[in-house]
Amino acid sequence: MDAFRIQGGRRLKGTVRVSGSKNAALPLMAAALMAEDTVKLQDVPRLSDIAHLVMLLESLGCDVKHGEDRTMEIKVVDEGNSLAEYDIVRKMRASICVLGPLLGKRGEASVSMPGGCPIGDRPVDIHLRGLQALGADIELEGGIIHARAKKLQGTRIFMGGPFGSTVLGTINVMSAAAVAKGTTVLEQVACEPEVVDVANLLNAMGASIHGAGSPRITIDGVESLTGADHRVIADRIEAGTWIMTAAITNGDLQIENCPVDCLMAALDRLDEIGVSVDIPTGADAMRATVSVGSARRLEPVFITTQPHPGFPTDLQAQIMALLTLADGNSMITEKIFPDRYMHVPELARMGANLYRQGPSVMVSGVKKLVGAPVMASDLRASAGLVMAGLAAKGQTTVNRVYHIDRGYEKLDEKLKSVGAEIERIPSSA
Ligand code: EPU
Repeated sequence: MDAFRIQGGRRLKGTVRVSGSKNAALPLMAAALMAEDTVKLQDVPRLSDIAHLVMLLESLGCDVKHGEDRTMEIKVVDEGNSLAEYDIVRKMRASICVLGPLLGKRGEASVSMPGGCPIGDRPVDIHLRGLQALGADIELEGGIIHARAKKLQGTRIFMGGPFGSTVLGTINVMSAAAVAKGTTVLEQVACEPEVVDVANLLNAMGASIHGAGSPRITIDGVESLTGADHRVIADRIEAGTWIMTAAITNGDLQIENCPVDCLMAALDRLDEIGVSVDIPTGADAMRATVSVGSARRLEPVFITTQPHPGFPTDLQAQIMALLTLADGNSMITEKIFPDRYMHVPELARMGANLYRQGPSVMVSGVKKLVGAPVMASDLRASAGLVMAGLAAKGQTTVNRVYHIDRGYEKLDEKLKSVGAEIERIPSSA
């Protein structure tokens, strides 16, 4: 497994471009299963998670072309197989996003139940409850979820859960309801920008979905969906990671394709920490070019992760890395995945002063971090460790960076282009 070797202490300077959103692209690709014709997506990042979904879609009868220019064309050519096998699902939990589209279009879907995950328990009960409410018969057999329905029937469904709503669950049920008979009203759904992006694609395909981005979505079912052409939204988590990376290296970065509109909670906390993000007046709020500067002294803050538009759990590890160098005590509380703290002991290996109590971590700022070999555990934890390595004194080796390759397009190359000293060490070395 590849590793990153980082020599810390360089100030990053220059311009980086944020890629298309992985978490939007995955369910957008799955939505193409419902189209009678070709779906063309633009700005689909070249990532290993995307490659896994391409494999899955191919196994489900799609012809998929992903060009070097990041356009992707998906066309269903054979509806004979509707089983998403364990071999692919275990590599990528987000494979569950084919469940709703397959059931809606083909009247049946079998998806291997996703297993354990380093960020904590990730049940799919709300996905299944929602599809059952639409009239699907659901059985679990041999670790596989089998869903069947002759014709789904619109209804009113409550989609809340103990940790808020569910992003992929909302998308699954919304997609299936797009071709159900009659009207479906989904209450307490996820408001994340990725839900809105999928609703926009489905509407471009002929669906009638209203209210995406708010807690209530209304869907008037249609008979069938056509092909469409759609550009994937910019990756708000990558953008947030770049802003925090500029701050932790005391750098001076221009960030292009930055969806500031989706980052209000993070920008609010960053402002309090002393990180200023300059957004030009009149900029496109979904694709702005912003500049980041930061005070030398970082202020401590309190942060609670929440469903959108709250502070995203997917930026928790990165902001923790930044706060390890703040001047005082910060508190982070994780309300989405209370156990998403595998990076805590790794940051501690680099000299961070962290004290965890259940879902909260107190971060006592230190004067400096020191380089060390550390282990990446999941995608965002890995990003936090890379950030810490860039700011640390000396050399840091982040092992198992395949986690990063799942979700950050060419992170090492982008970092190098703005002055970081980072090298990819292939597993064979
Ligand atoms: N939950 C339930 N029941 C369900 C589904 C979820 O209780 O049926 C709980 C989860 O355990 C969690 C909370 O609800 O506590 C939110 O989970 P959600 O279902 O929203 O997560 P997801 O849709 O599986 C997406 C992103 C994650 C991101 C979460 C939360 C994709 C591919 N993944 O996952 O992204 O952390 O939403 O915002 O969109 C990442 O990119 O690193 C990543 C993990």
